[in-house]
Amino acid sequence: GLAIGPLLKTTGAVTYDPGFMNTANAKSAITYIDGDEGILRYRGYPIEQLAENSTFLEVSYLLIHGDLPTAEQLADFDSVTRRHTLLHEELKDFFSGFPRDAHPMPVLSSAVSALSTYYPDSLDPFDAEQVERSTYRLLAKVPTIAAYAYKKSVGQPMLYPDNNLSITENFLRGCFGVPAEQYEIDPEVARALDVLLILHADHEQNCSTSTVRLVGSSQANMFASISAGINALYGPAHGGANEAVLKMLRQIQGGDVTPEAFMEKVKNKEEGVRLMGFGHRVYKNYDPRARVVKGLADKLLTKLGGNDELFEIAQRLEQKALEDDYFIERKLYPNVDFYTGLIYKAMGFPEKMFTPLFALGRLPGWIAQWREMVNDPATKIGRPRQIYIGEGQRDYPA
Ligand code: ACO
Repeated sequence: GLAIGPLLKTTGAVTYDPGFMNTANAKSAITYIDGDEGILRYRGYPIEQLAENSTFLEVSYLLIHGDLPTAEQLADFDSVTRRHTLLHEELKDFFSGFPRDAHPMPVLSSAVSALSTYYPDSLDPFDAEQVERSTYRLLAKVPTIAAYAYKKSVGQPMLYPDNNLSITENFLRGCFGVPAEQYEIDPEVARALDVLLILHADHEQNCSTSTVRLVGSSQANMFASISAGINALYGPAHGGANEAVLKMLRQIQGGDVTPEAFMEKVKNKEEGVRLMGFGHRVYKNYDPRARVVKGLADKLLTKLGGNDELFEIAQRLEQKALEDDYFIERKLYPNVDFYTGLIYKAMGFPEKMFTPLFALGRLPGWIAQWREMVNDPATKIGRPRQIYIGEGQRDYPA
C-alpha cells in the first residue's frame, strides 16, 4: 500500500511493503527467475543445463565474473582456490570454544566473521585486488570451516585439506576422512554433491542475499557481509527448511502422525504447521531445482541404500499435495529443499549439516551479488522507512 502521513514532510509518499513483496532493491545481471513458468537461469544459462554439464567451480566463476571461463581461466581459478583452503592455525582454536553439540551454522558464521581479523589486506570494498583476494579466500576457506565444524560436532580430529582435490571432493574428505587413512571418494557421490551445490548457488534477492547486500551497503567488508548472510540462512523459513523437512518425514515415519492426519493439520494451520519444503515466495510453479533434485534422489538413494521409506513418504506427501485444492489454490509446489535432505542423509551427513551445505552452495551467489552491489554506482546504504504507529508526544511524569 501507499502510505501518506507525517512522513510526507521529509520523504513524500512511502510504500508500505512488508516482506518486500513488491520492492526491488537492486538492478542485477546475475540470476533470472520466472516464478510463474518455473524458470531459473544464471547469467542467462538455464539451471538444467548447468546442472547437467558444469561444475560448481565453473558456476562460481560464471556467477562472479559474468561469463563462463576459458579453459585457462578455469585452471587459474581452480589453482588459486586450491592454494587457499588452509585456515590460520589460530583460527582453529576458535572451534574448541564452542560446546561439543554446537549447531554448525553459528559456528560457520562466527568463523567467517572472524576471517576479517586475519586478513586486513582484503577488507576494502573499493579496492579490486582486495576484493579478488577476499573472493578466493572465502571460496576456499568456507568449505574447510564447514568440515571443521562437522568434525568438531562428532568429536573427531580435523583434517588439513588436500589440495589435489576439488572443493567438493575436499569437503567430503574433510567431513568423512580419518587421519592416516586413505579416503576413497565415490565419484558419483562427489558429482551429486557438486550438482546440489550448483542448484543452490544463487537465487537473486532471497533473504540471505538481501542481507548480504544490506550489510554490505554500509561498506562492511565481504567477510562481515557474508557472515550475516549465513545467519539469515539459518532460519527455518529459509535455509533451515531442508533440516525441517527431514524432521517432519521422520515424525511421520515414527508413527506419531499419519501422512493424511499431517496434511489435515497443515490445511487447518494447526499450531502453524506447514508442509516443509513446499511453497516459495517467487515460484508459483514446480521449482526447477526441485525437479533436478528429485531425479538425483531417485538415482542416488537406490545406490546408497537406506532412507527408501522416507523417500516414499515424501513422494506420497507430494502426490497428496499436488492433488489437493488447498495447495493448488495457493500454488504450492515442492521447493529445492523438499528432497535435498534425503540425499544429504544418504551421503552420511547428519541433519545439522544440511543448512551448512546450503551455505556452501549459496556462497558464490552471495559473493557475486556483493560485488555487483559494490560496483553499482546506484548503490546507497540500505535504510528502509517505517510507518510510525506509536504514541504521540507525552510528558515524563513529574
Ligand atoms: N504449507 C502449508 N501452507 C503453506 C505453505 C506450506 N509449506 N507455504 C505457504 N502456505 C500457505 C500460507 O499459509 C498462506 O495461506 P493463506 O493465504 O491461507 O494464509 C499462503 O500459502 C501464502 O503463504 P505465505 O506465507 O504468505 O507465502 P510467503 O511467500 O510469505 O512464504 C515460504 C514463502 C516462507 C517459503 C512458505 O511457503 C513456507 O513457509 N514454506 C515452508 C518452509 C520452506 O520450505 N522454506 C524454504 C523456502 S525455499 C528456500 O529457502 C530454498
